[in-house]
Amino acid sequence: KVKMTVGDFKKFKKEGKRFSFVTAYDYTTATIVDESDCNIILVGDSLGMIMLGYKGTESVTMDDMVHHIRPVVKGAPNTWIIGDMPFGSYITPEIAVANAVRLIKETNCDCVKLEGGVEMLPQIKAIVGAGINVMGHIGLTPQTASSLGGFKVQGGTPESAAKLIKDAIELEKAGCFSIVLECVPSGVGKAVSEAVEIPILGIGAGPHVDCQVLVTQDLLGMYGDFKPKFVKQFAQVRQVMIEGLNEFHKETLEGTFPSPEFSFNKQVDIPKLY
Ligand code: KIV
Ligand code: NA
Repeated sequence: KVKMTVGDFKKFKKEGKRFSFVTAYDYTTATIVDESDCNIILVGDSLGMIMLGYKGTESVTMDDMVHHIRPVVKGAPNTWIIGDMPFGSYITPEIAVANAVRLIKETNCDCVKLEGGVEMLPQIKAIVGAGINVMGHIGLTPQTASSLGGFKVQGGTPESAAKLIKDAIELEKAGCFSIVLECVPSGVGKAVSEAVEIPILGIGAGPHVDCQVLVTQDLLGMYGDFKPKFVKQFAQVRQVMIEGLNEFHKETLEGTFPSPEFSFNKQVDIPKLY
């Protein structure tokens, strides 16, 4: 497996070559993704829900992100790794640059991602100006979902679709090398993708975008709390894990585990002390 470079993103789009993109928040999962054919890992602030049990992403801190990105970088040397910028970490261009530099310096990830359209241009330009690769994120932006009226499909009117197209064009001009587009009608995904030369990475954005993104724990059927419409479960790993745990429990009660195969069998003369 050859690690993607920043130049590959535009090149793949130009060549019509699709690629895939999943999350990981820990070393073991990172090694699994690295061994798979998937091209990109996002250490997303979705770790708030998936790893920390929060209701949303708002409480995730920069320290949380650094803590989770580091082991992923160690576990996936052949995979392009995105460090997500958490809520509140890019409220001004100065704060955005300081935090983006921190993520790169302390974790060695390949780029940062932040949410927002044209209103984020000053922050995006500042981070790009500091020499850091920036991935955009438009459409449904979970960090500010409450101001969008909840976790709802975006771009459902001609006006809001036009805003997304404008956002994508401006983000490309500002130097983003790719953009996540979340939860929009398929036709809007197609239009946004056609409007720019950088790849559009879709999650719930239909089949006409350049790349598909899913949360690993969602697509493997590990996370039990909530399944959005756009999540296809490609495996039922949660069930496999529960069955494995129940087997262990059962053999423990029966006394069939551990058998000699899983025990240290050297004979020792035990002194009679009791
Ligand atoms: O944090 C995350 O998992 C994300 C994806 C939904 C793109 O931002
Ligand atoms: Na995120």
